[in-house]
Amino acid sequence: MFDARYSIRSHVAGSLGVGNVGETVTLAGWVHRRRDHGGLIFVDLRDRSGLVQAVFDPDASGEAFVMAERIRPEWVIKLTGQVRLRPEGTVNPNLQTGEVEVIIASAEVLNVSETPPFEIDTAIETDETLRLKYRYVDLRRPEALDALILRDRVTQRFRKSLEHRGFIEVETPILGRSTPEGARDFIVPSRLNPGEFYALPQSPQLFKQLLMVGGVERYYQIARCFRDEDLRADRQPEFTQVDIEMSFVTQEDVLAMMEEVMHEVMREASVDLVTPLRRMTYADAMDRYGSDRPDLRFGMELACLSSLFADSEFKVFASALGSGGRIKGINARGAGDWSRSKIDALNQIALDAGAKGLAWVAFPTEGDVRSPIAKFFTDEEMAGLKEALDVELGDLVLMIADAHDVANEVLGVLRLHMADELELEREGFEALWVVDFPLFKWDAEEQSYSANHHPFTRPFDEHVGSLEDHPLETLSYSYDLVMNGLEIGGGTLRVHDAALQRRILGILGHDESKAEEEFGFLLEALSLGAPPHGGIALGLDRLVMVLAGKSSIRDVIAFPKTSSGACPLTGAPGSVSSRQLRDVHLKRD
Ligand code: AMO
Ligand code: AMP
Repeated sequence: MFDARYSIRSHVAGSLGVGNVGETVTLAGWVHRRRDHGGLIFVDLRDRSGLVQAVFDPDASGEAFVMAERIRPEWVIKLTGQVRLRPEGTVNPNLQTGEVEVIIASAEVLNVSETPPFEIDTAIETDETLRLKYRYVDLRRPEALDALILRDRVTQRFRKSLEHRGFIEVETPILGRSTPEGARDFIVPSRLNPGEFYALPQSPQLFKQLLMVGGVERYYQIARCFRDEDLRADRQPEFTQVDIEMSFVTQEDVLAMMEEVMHEVMREASVDLVTPLRRMTYADAMDRYGSDRPDLRFGMELACLSSLFADSEFKVFASALGSGGRIKGINARGAGDWSRSKIDALNQIALDAGAKGLAWVAFPTEGDVRSPIAKFFTDEEMAGLKEALDVELGDLVLMIADAHDVANEVLGVLRLHMADELELEREGFEALWVVDFPLFKWDAEEQSYSANHHPFTRPFDEHVGSLEDHPLETLSYSYDLVMNGLEIGGGTLRVHDAALQRRILGILGHDESKAEEEFGFLLEALSLGAPPHGGIALGLDRLVMVLAGKSSIRDVIAFPKTSSGACPLTGAPGSVSSRQLRDVHLKRD
């Protein structure tokens, strides 16, 4: 709560109550609503703290009454008057200040306002682009402001909690070299170095590692990161990480520290994070939920049906198993009566997610089984299917036969889709660590290995010997913090040994000269006394979004961008003059 000190006011509107009755107060703020009752005019005065009802009575002040006849919503006014109890029957229990009102003795217009582009009260139903164009009007909504206040509280708590544990905040450069976090860089031409470019940081990853080599030992930063990727509800081109790095730690140390800090942070939003958090390996998460950020607020787990259908007459199943694949399924409880066209739409979702098709069996009513493929099933197979997926009347079983990872991923997509469609209740708060990610993944398009997290992640000690022989089986010291199906943060222990780092870069396709060119500075640092270290970065926007109960990170960012990366308010990105382009050597004449 803020107060009226250092201002032209004596009080803030939302602070007034029965205790102030009889006091003369000076307030300033916006005209929220004005109601003309003939002889009396009522104005709800709004400031950051809330609303209070001001009463203009010509008997109390003729001059103020004349002003009140003229004022319009969103005008900025200053009022002086006496606080009094509202007459019986006019108390407003929904308003913090609803027991009192201020009878105005003098009033002043500080500024007029054009008719606002939308009403503050109903702004949330307004087209988002319009709201963002007038974001400063939109921010006058208490809900919008509350999100910023929560964000501030969360940020301050991170600072306090981390400082309390010996972390120091260090700023790292914005103009730097590309850091490989897997997205596209935003690049900035250099005027002083013709033809050369800076890259905005996708994260402070390499700098925080260099700080560890520099003996900082415990670093954090509320760091702005930039990634030129396709945007979604939980992705912005610039976003904020709570970035953390520690020296001389094991994975357990990082997780334990983070759980304590998260517990303190989430208390700011009255969420009691129960620790220690549940843990799930990446392999288990994929196997059971088809996702490395499983939403555990509902079940609908994936079941493996391969052994059940080991001798299946259905060609699709047999050939998938024959080529080393799996048959897996989920039970969408309550979708058993879906029409053919609705199920066909699911088929398309499966295809889009990478499947070759979708096998389904619906159990709409007693004795009735609908399915294009059930005719291939033996009685035992049908009974086994019902048992494996705990089938009841009204259920719809969806199955995918494919390579193991494809079957998992597609069913993971269908699981979330069906949860939305069936409006499954997703109450409560489910957080977990997903751990032990594979170090590499195979990029079929590029025909090369790529880093699952980033190239500086440390493989399990016992897998170091077989890196080159079994890259895809190499697991890493890595952990993602997942809440309600969202990836809130991620981190790893790092490679602190130059030779091992060279080997990993080699598997990622960087021959020695390319590794030197791109990462020579890191390799050199690792050879000059790098301590073992590791860390994590939390997506601050996503965390605040979850805590505020919002479904888009745009709601918790003061001036967010639209899905095309534009700022409707300022018009960014915009064109620049020829002169500017010449200065940075992007144009000759
Ligand atoms: P990572 O790439 O997983 O790790 O990013 C960490 C967290 O940042 C958030 N995040 C985003 N939030 C909003 N918009 C985006 N475009 C966006 N991209 C990522 C996510 C994510 O979990 N340097 C490593 C961390 C480390 O190893 O210490 C890193 O950046 O919540
Ligand atoms: P088909 O024999 O190709 O006509 O396929 C019969 C049914 O099996 C159709 O409903 C397909 O969508 C489905 N199907 C095809 N391939 C797969 C697959 N890999 N996994 C699950 N179902 C599939």
